[in-house]
Amino acid sequence: MSSKPRVLSGAQPTADSYHLGNYFGAFKQWVALQDEFEAFYFIPDLHAITVDYDPKLLPERTYIAAAQLLAAGVDPKRSALFVQSHVPEHTQLAWVLSGITGFGEAGRMTQFKDKTAKGGTDKASIGLFTYPILMAADILLYQAAKVPVGEDQRQHVELTRNLAQRFNHRFGETFVVPEAHILKATAKIYDLQNPTAKMSGSATSHAGVVNLTDDPKAAVKKIRSAVTDSGTEIRFDPAEKPGISNLLTIFSALTGRTITDIEAEFAGQQYGHLKVALGDIVGDFVADFGSRTRELLDDRGELDRILAEGADSAREVASQTLADVYRRSGFVPSQRG
Ligand code: TYM
Repeated sequence: MSSKPRVLSGAQPTADSYHLGNYFGAFKQWVALQDEFEAFYFIPDLHAITVDYDPKLLPERTYIAAAQLLAAGVDPKRSALFVQSHVPEHTQLAWVLSGITGFGEAGRMTQFKDKTAKGGTDKASIGLFTYPILMAADILLYQAAKVPVGEDQRQHVELTRNLAQRFNHRFGETFVVPEAHILKATAKIYDLQNPTAKMSGSATSHAGVVNLTDDPKAAVKKIRSAVTDSGTEIRFDPAEKPGISNLLTIFSALTGRTITDIEAEFAGQQYGHLKVALGDIVGDFVADFGSRTRELLDDRGELDRILAEGADSAREVASQTLADVYRRSGFVPSQRG
């Protein structure tokens, strides 16, 4: 077994494609961490059923998710890539952790509050409420030291840390206490039409959301029609110029160039110039990303094989952690193995 520290993360298959926010906020870091860490990346299909969803769409969305993660650079030779529901230990550990999670503590999760702000809690499922506990189980099962995520998941990782420390304190040293790995520059990519809200797959309009497999022409149009700010100067200033700053962030993340360098290139030019240049870059990116994704999707046998191997590697680790947790919890071991 590897002596490297572990990294774990997941991204929900709740749409027909991931978007640029997922890619820059999370996937780029997943890929970068594969050498230094023993990596576990997964598709949380069990999380996806906590909101209204169509079971007929979920299988295809799960395959698309897998193909996109591979297209993003997750390398199955170095990382375990798997589907959450293939590893039953996730729900088993979640139940144990629910016994040490306070009701009030769970109620303070801002994502739950945001997601129920419109419809109220009567319309929300218990699964949506306990969702962060399942997420804690996802992380703790693998003894992950780092969890690369966007800013919106910080509070969930904080809850995970608290649960790990609480369990260790009450039942003896069991879990590695994980740390969120959040890259400041790309921790929150904003909606192009509403640059003070995060880019989100559940947005009511997708005009401000660039999906990784958007038709390139549509993606170019979305960038060119991005809402920009008053004034004319192309300058990174998230408070005064959220629209332009978001475009500069995306420009920098896609090209690897610094914001200062990009500001210098566009000094004295109009917003339109920046949008045209960025539109071309994003168009090329999604064209390439889309074709790699489609190629991977064409070979379901290979995707199934990668996901099965990933689940095997995941279960090896997960079953050991769960056995330890059960023993420490005082459960009599089953004699049937
Ligand atoms: P999810 O599926 O909403 O998003 C997947 C990842 O993308 C990041 N992200 C963003 N980053 C920057 N800007 C944005 N606009 C943006 N939108 C999304 C998210 O922060 C996330 O890292 N609960 C998780 C899934 C999950 C998980 C886990 C993550 C389940 N179990 C265990 C880590 C570890 C979620 O809903 O992410």
